[in-house]
Amino acid sequence: LILKKIRDSLLQWYDQNQRVLPWRRRRSKTTDADEDEEEDEKETSRRAYAVWVSEVMLQQTRVSTVIDYYNRWMEKWPTLHHLAQATQEEVNEMWAGLGYYRRARFLLEGAKMVVEGGGEFPRTVPALRKVRGIGDYTAGAIASIAFNEAVPVVDGNVVRVIARLKAISANTKESETIKNLWKLAGQLVDPHRPGDMNQSLMELGAIICTPTSPSCSACPISEQCHAFSLSRNSQRVQVTDYPVKVVKPK
Ligand code: ADE
Repeated sequence: LILKKIRDSLLQWYDQNQRVLPWRRRRSKTTDADEDEEEDEKETSRRAYAVWVSEVMLQQTRVSTVIDYYNRWMEKWPTLHHLAQATQEEVNEMWAGLGYYRRARFLLEGAKMVVEGGGEFPRTVPALRKVRGIGDYTAGAIASIAFNEAVPVVDGNVVRVIARLKAISANTKESETIKNLWKLAGQLVDPHRPGDMNQSLMELGAIICTPTSPSCSACPISEQCHAFSLSRNSQRVQVTDYPVKVVKPK
């Protein structure tokens, strides 16, 4: 019951507040009767590729920087098949300034792998994980956003949102805690709109539930948030106490 409330509030907030980003689905797709299946299939593959490229770029780079790189990339290599024909030099040149060049190398290797394997984009997390460079995060993002699989995605923003929502006081750098966060994120995933649900958590973390100055008064789930509730009941607790920061030994 409380999960449903959280999902509904997040999705409603996301529908009204999501940023317009080039890799997001264009809204208001008309329900045309003669929209054929082949077109749908092509659109899904295009989307999986778009999500892949954008999520890899977003892994170490801020959204505002990624937008231009993403648009240039998609202009040069509009599909996975175009990318698979590229050379490493071309890819590196396109990536210049984004840093962590391993990501670009893996994108090219991954594209070649998928095309050589028949060109069919893998749709599930285990199948996606077999592609070069696709880890838990990217696999979850592609499966949920492009293929509507009800699987979670946990990045730094989602860690922060869930740690606050549940007032998790365990060290979020530890593998036990991370496992638990993935489990909690999995319970939150909306079965009908998993991609939007995951993106709403990331979006909330990026624009409302920020690291140092969260806007709790504008948060759609503050009523369900344990950290917020604790902060209201005690002078000594603040929402920003979560996630608990690791104190490194000297
Ligand atoms: N950061 C990384 N991926 C994102 C996404 N799909 N939506 C919002 N923020 C993100």
